[in-house]
Amino acid sequence: MKIFAILAITLVVGLLAVVGFAHSGLYDVSANSPHSSLVSWLLSTTSHASIERRAKAIEVPRHKDNTLALAGIGDFESMCAACHGAPGRDPEAMGLGLNPPAPDLAESAKEMTAAELFWVTKNGIKMTGMPAWGKTHGDDELWPVIAFLVTLPELDSDAYEAMLVSAAGMGHHEESAAQADQHDHGTHEH
Ligand code: HEC
Repeated sequence: MKIFAILAITLVVGLLAVVGFAHSGLYDVSANSPHSSLVSWLLSTTSHASIERRAKAIEVPRHKDNTLALAGIGDFESMCAACHGAPGRDPEAMGLGLNPPAPDLAESAKEMTAAELFWVTKNGIKMTGMPAWGKTHGDDELWPVIAFLVTLPELDSDAYEAMLVSAAGMGHHEESAAQADQHDHGTHEH
């Protein structure tokens, strides 16, 4: 019995210490300094495992398609490049101030499956700057962006800018009201 009493007291003291630390203001939440290595490890391990597990349930449609990628580049430019940067281009001021930083998606596209890229794009990542685009965009609007992301590792800055020019007018942000009427884009807001 004594051992249980000691365990219970240790647990209560431990919990009080955690609550006390949370209230103390000692932890630096500033985005200027990175998390400590222990917190970084805990968050990134939790995040990777969570994404991997949830992405397994996603049915990946045909996405290795140049036309679909062309339809996605304009949305990548207007929705993602400010934080993540684009070939030959750094992120904008907003992206440069983020902590954790928004990674270069050309690298992410080499390491992550299409289902994982889609899951993160749709659902976002808590307590980071990564938004849940699925709150405002249907799956049919996000898959073209994923189709574009998988081509990203092969694009240098010239190829990227040329592709942007040839895609002018494509992507759901670019559609005229008349074209938008012909497509059912759900209830997303802009
Ligand atoms: C406001 C800034 C911001 C915008 C805009 C943004 N992201 Fe992110 N994104 C982030 C941050 C920050 C992370 C890193 C989160 C972390 O460390 O877990 C991230 C992570 C990701 C990841 C995971 C990458 C990896 O290697 O783990 C993917 C995929 C991603 N974003 C896709 C997108 C796409 C696609 C768009 C546009 C539709 C977009 N993001 C727009 C901030 C942003």
